[in-house]
Amino acid sequence: MSKSFPFTYIRKKFCKSQDAVVPIQCKAIQYGLGCFSGIRGNYNKSKKTVYLFRLAEHYNRLKDSTKILGFDFDVTEKEFIKIVTDLVKKNEAKEDIYVRPIVYAASIDVVPGLDHPEEDLAIYMIPLGNYLSDKGLNVCVSSWRRFDDDMISSKAKATGGYINSALAKKEAKENGYDEAIFLNRDGKVCEASGANIFGVKDGEIFTPHLSFNNLNGITRRSVIEIIEKELNQKVREESFDRSTLYMFDELFLTGTAARISWIASVDKKQIGDGKEGPITKKLKKFYDEISLGENKKYMHWLTKI
Ligand SMILES: Cc1ncc(COP(=O)(O)O)c(C=O)c1O
Repeated sequence: MSKSFPFTYIRKKFCKSQDAVVPIQCKAIQYGLGCFSGIRGNYNKSKKTVYLFRLAEHYNRLKDSTKILGFDFDVTEKEFIKIVTDLVKKNEAKEDIYVRPIVYAASIDVVPGLDHPEEDLAIYMIPLGNYLSDKGLNVCVSSWRRFDDDMISSKAKATGGYINSALAKKEAKENGYDEAIFLNRDGKVCEASGANIFGVKDGEIFTPHLSFNNLNGITRRSVIEIIEKELNQKVREESFDRSTLYMFDELFLTGTAARISWIASVDKKQIGDGKEGPITKKLKKFYDEISLGENKKYMHWLTKI
């Protein structure tokens, strides 16, 4: 069970987390009308501080999401960063955390429309270590297809869209797998239920192009930048099919909660030699060092508390 820290931000102020409640009638609950982001805070034990990862990018994606949904979102980047950092300070976090900003439709009007949603920004945080196993994930291709952009925009990180993720994850878990990989209607690989996917074949690194119904992941973007700058390689952003997944030498997921998590098998077919691959290991090392404020070149990605 995820336990919230004592303070939450809602209705333009901080309050005790147990008081951050919304009415059952509100459109966010009734119709899934909202959009959100998830921000990592990594606790550096020797420096005794939390480093928040890429706050500006999270703000920009949240703002884009509100635009897609047609919400008025008048919080500036500067204000957003101040609210998030004040919340983390107030909660005195001394461990790895996950900060969840959500812009939700607070209106209690019964019509499932997005007009006058009375949108509000709420932000809460929970302690979060490793979200997925680091012992190698056994994943399956889901029988649930990813929704297309002309159904629900996967770029909007809309709360209602996560029903699709939840169904896929439930099916995967019930069948004994750790995670589910979505295909789109055309059978092309999209992403996992809550993370982007990368594959390595003969030293080349691939990820589905952003037009394949996946979220514009901030970890995905960061990993692509690390690959270009640190490994001197270009990532091939392409489309690939289900059977291509089986042939990769290495496969891994990226996400704020998932970090970089390696995949041991897909549909019970072993990936590579069934061990964490050398490129995945290298990327994970860079990513972990950067997130903990241990790599000087990337301090501009972090906000120190
Ligand atoms: C469906 C989906 N794809 C990808 C991601 C990874 O995105 P990010 O790296 O911004 O956390 C997430 C994580 O929130 C997600 O829910």
